[in-house]
Amino acid sequence: MFRLYVNPQNRKGHINKEIQGHFSEHLGRCIYEGLYVGEDSPIPNTNGMRNDVVNALKEMQIPVLRWPGGCFADEYHWMDGVGPKESRKRMINTHWGGVVEDNSFGTHEYMELCRQLGCKTYINGNVGSGTVREMSEWVEYMTFEGVSPMAELRKKNGHEAPYRVDYFGVGNENWGCGGNMNPEYYGNLYRNYQTYVRTYDSKKPIYKIACGPNVDDYEWTEGVLKTLYRGAGKENGLLDGISLHYYTHPEGWEVKGSATDFDEKVWYKTLSKTLYMETLIKQHGAILDQYDKERKVGMIVDEWGTWFTCEPGTNPGFLYQQNTMRDALVAGINLNIFNKHCDRVKMANIAQLVNVLQAVILTDGDKMLLTPTYHVFNMYKHHQDAELLDSYIETETIGLEEEYQVPNLSESVSLGKDGKIHITLNNLSAEKDYEIEGIFAQTKIQAVKGTVLTDEMHAHNTFDAPNKVHTQTFDDCRIKDNTISFTIPACSVLHLEVTV
Ligand code: AHR
Repeated sequence: MFRLYVNPQNRKGHINKEIQGHFSEHLGRCIYEGLYVGEDSPIPNTNGMRNDVVNALKEMQIPVLRWPGGCFADEYHWMDGVGPKESRKRMINTHWGGVVEDNSFGTHEYMELCRQLGCKTYINGNVGSGTVREMSEWVEYMTFEGVSPMAELRKKNGHEAPYRVDYFGVGNENWGCGGNMNPEYYGNLYRNYQTYVRTYDSKKPIYKIACGPNVDDYEWTEGVLKTLYRGAGKENGLLDGISLHYYTHPEGWEVKGSATDFDEKVWYKTLSKTLYMETLIKQHGAILDQYDKERKVGMIVDEWGTWFTCEPGTNPGFLYQQNTMRDALVAGINLNIFNKHCDRVKMANIAQLVNVLQAVILTDGDKMLLTPTYHVFNMYKHHQDAELLDSYIETETIGLEEEYQVPNLSESVSLGKDGKIHITLNNLSAEKDYEIEGIFAQTKIQAVKGTVLTDEMHAHNTFDAPNKVHTQTFDDCRIKDNTISFTIPACSVLHLEVTV
């Protein structure tokens, strides 16, 4: 039996709802087909956005959406995507799949999508191949209310009122696809570019995000921060957040491995590599602590998730992959880690929303399915804007290879906005159930209800069997005063709502 200790009296921090954020790039069938089909499509849509996808994402309470990339962001020139659609530039998406990009989804369409979703906006600007002026004018175009050439252009293009930009990324992966820069060079460019990312309405400040490291590139983090905090930098630097990118690819970057065809060794390898996220947050966080002594700068994990070999027969540049119970566990573990580090992690964006990498939704023509990862986000939504509670779970180490051992359980607990305690618990064992006893300090428990996602490790949804993996009610919980007892099934993600 494993004990879970919860202290409802000890609140550890606020869980920003943006921790459950998403990312959409002009890549493969994410934007086109996945989200946007155009007004004339036979697929039911509202102003071009697929109704089925929008409704599913609203149900999941998508809190924020990053756009337009990714690597695409540093090749994107926003002016190409505004104005009458028939005169927008057509070009080849050289980075992703060599297909025609007709720019029919641009700034106005993105803002319309976020309006329909009711989510916050996160725009990623172009440092790699764009100018300071271009970035500055984009922000002016989107957010300026007064008289200005860009505000006039926005109005001429059909939107009188300014849009709201909540988050703005100054470049993406500038150590790689975003310009192959070194940290000092990028740091200096950041100082320059961000100056012109102006907040025009002080009631709606734009949260500025610097390009952070890839995985364990601590030199990048150190180099960028040193440059940003040097000399004339404001006491708290010139940034609100710094990004971190870490993907789980069990077989390494070159091989990656199949999304659906794997054995138990690879299962544990995948989960073990996922747990590395916590080390990265701590290590990069420790560097950040040296500069940002007041701990005001957010760590923005704006690309994470599984990256497998794309599905056979699909364009390799489209990064289309299936999604199994293994992805569900990867999502559950990462979201628990982000919750536990909510003092630093202020936003995280899984890559990517639809049809790309670890997607929550897959589409095929007019068909749509929800992946196991979708169900995890839907269960975790109760943590959005909740207060993290002090919790600890006893674990044992499991796995088949010495190098890839993992704890059998992962958890996080919060006090939700609804006044209930929400526990999310993952069983990382591919085959063993575990007895759990949850002990709540000085708390009388009134009721518990739960939802579980469980199946065998390869299980996934297909367009022929779209509901093979689905959530079920979990009502096998015994209550006694301040304890609850239950058995968590193998290979599962569980959400418990506790009324006290
Ligand atoms: O998400 C796919 C790509 O991965 C993004 O475009 C890039 O930022 C990262 O390398």
